[in-house]
Amino acid sequence: MAEHVTLIYAGKEFRLPLVTGSEGEKAIDISLLRRETGLITLDSGYANTGSCKSAITFVDGEKGILRYRGIPVEQLAERSTFKETAYLLINGELPSQKELTRFSVLLNDHSLVHEDMKTFYQNFPRSSHPMGILSAMVNALRSFYPELQDLDEETTITVTRLLSKVRTMAAMSHKISRGHTVVYPRSDLTYCANFLNMMFDSPVKPYEIDPDVVKALNVFLILHADHEQNCSTAAVRVVGSARVNLYAAISAGIAALWGPLHGGANQAVIETLGEIAQGGNLHQMIARAKDRQDPYRLMGFGHRVYKTFDPRARIMKRMAHVLLDKLNLSDPLLDVARELEEIALKDDYFIEHHLYPNVDFYSGIVLRAIGIPINMFTVLFAIGRLPGWIAQWKESMDEPDWKLCRPRQVYTGPHERPYVPIEER
Ligand code: ACO
Repeated sequence: MAEHVTLIYAGKEFRLPLVTGSEGEKAIDISLLRRETGLITLDSGYANTGSCKSAITFVDGEKGILRYRGIPVEQLAERSTFKETAYLLINGELPSQKELTRFSVLLNDHSLVHEDMKTFYQNFPRSSHPMGILSAMVNALRSFYPELQDLDEETTITVTRLLSKVRTMAAMSHKISRGHTVVYPRSDLTYCANFLNMMFDSPVKPYEIDPDVVKALNVFLILHADHEQNCSTAAVRVVGSARVNLYAAISAGIAALWGPLHGGANQAVIETLGEIAQGGNLHQMIARAKDRQDPYRLMGFGHRVYKTFDPRARIMKRMAHVLLDKLNLSDPLLDVARELEEIALKDDYFIEHHLYPNVDFYSGIVLRAIGIPINMFTVLFAIGRLPGWIAQWKESMDEPDWKLCRPRQVYTGPHERPYVPIEER
């Protein structure tokens, strides 16, 4: 017999079915709850709410497990490329050689950005944050490229167009913000090498592509490629559920990712580490993070799902060491990060609250070594998360039980009262 839980309310029993995922996790199906009982659930921040069934990414926050389409992220980081991982997330399987070649050709075919879009960039104030620009520009893509039809071929083109153009647009925003000439994509370069070249090549100093840097960027992007129903992915699904075009849904995801509690944390971590390296008081910062009266938090620590070491943070930490060694660089911020981690992991507050370094804690050090400027850190996260957003959007579009996302609320405002004319207030 199918499993269920029993809810007793107003002297009556209601049987709510249990749903079991492929890794054994269980959920109470409350889809008939309101109809049968008149009740709704209340779950601030959705910490206990499954918003969908998904076959894309599996996270076990207690054990520190992350798998894309069943494949451990550790294996992908070691053996795959970002392009191949993007294909896996979006299509469900690793590509054959033929499929990968076709995917590369499509990415190259769609890598150029409409020249008219350059004028948009030039009109943003110089102090604009690149995440704000990227979100606006991705939304603007819809004006330049046609709406998706529901043909498979069209989806493939729109998806590859996004994956390829967002990378070009990110590099373009960096060049324009510096007042430098835009570097165009090259079809002879791989996805990551192409991005690095567009970011750093210049007419006066040609950029030398270093395979170690390309590998590091691939790993960075793979580690960010998806993370099930996080804030920005939830934003993509919620906005997408109104059947808006894909560009608008992704633009919403970029806006959500910008927040310092989410993707914006990678920039905030480097700012904190920099402050400490320049003589800031590390112990005082930890004390502030522990003080419940103080809203200050230690950036790069804690996670809604991971109550142990974030597996991505382990890989990122190792990558930071390997890359700095290979490039023969030293970064004082890596020493500060190690010291901070060591102190925090022994601290009772951090132990009791299960606060471990998350993916953002070491990622900034890897990006600094690659040469990425700090205000572009979250943009790099967005490029990485793009295949995840697309895969989740696609899955939600194909969902047979699709519904417009429209949560309910428990109203706590005033009872009905009459309108008072302004002269009587
Ligand atoms: N520093 C100090 N205390 C913290 C931190 C932190 N970084 N994170 C959580 N806590 C404490 C909270 O104060 C709270 O304490 P209390 O129970 O004594 O009141 C407790 O831990 C639980 O915190 P919540 O905010 O309820 O936990 P939640 O799951 O909502 O938080 C979050 C997750 C937002 C990521 C949080 O840990 C945080 O703000 N971290 C810093 C920002 C950060 O690094 N964000 C990146 C996350 S990874 C990503 O998005 C890619």
